Amino acid sequence: MPLGDHILEIGAGAGPATSELRRRAPRVTSLEYDHTLALKLAQHNAPPANAVQGDAAALPFAGATFSCAIAILVLHHLKSAALQDRAFAEIHRVLRPGGIFLAGEIPDGWLHRVMHIRSTFTPVQPPSLAARLAHAGFRSVCMDSHPQGFRFQARRQV
Ligand SMILES: C[S@@+](CC[C@H](N)C(=O)[O-])C[C@H]1O[C@@H](n2cnc3c(N)ncnc32)[C@H](O)[C@@H]1O
Repeated sequence: MPLGDHILEIGAGAGPATSELRRRAPRVTSLEYDHTLALKLAQHNAPPANAVQGDAAALPFAGATFSCAIAILVLHHLKSAALQDRAFAEIHRVLRPGGIFLAGEIPDGWLHRVMHIRSTFTPVQPPSLAARLAHAGFRSVCMDSHPQGFRFQARRQV
């Protein structure tokens, strides 16, 4: 799938996916909430990749900046469904018209609840996702579900 010329990686963590994304686009901006991880990312990612500390629910970027935004195992770390909805609206804002949003998530269930006992776990419920993304302005929402997880894509209208 073509990801365009500038990817926003949201919740990059220590950057395990960043190098793969750099192979797929000439420019990658990695956003990370945790200050220490963001600093490490910045030290290891020279331009054209760059790392920024920030919050998915209040993106520190101008509107229509990115061709693609990707959030791998990040949304369940947001503290509430309302903050996830704010993140969806923010991602829609920073995507260019026609830009694509891709995300992968783990399902709700006792195992994941136990695994996150010391951290935030706000599971994204797949049945409500299409409506929530549409409310944020996205079109063409597609989802692909497996017992271990699900992924989805949505587009900002051209
Ligand atoms: C499970 S890790 C996933 C890291 C990476 N995407 C990967 O696939 O390995 C989730 C990351 O999201 C970050 N995160 C949590 N809340 C966030 C927020 N509000 N905005 C941006 N990143 C956030 C965490 O600090 C953590 O690094």
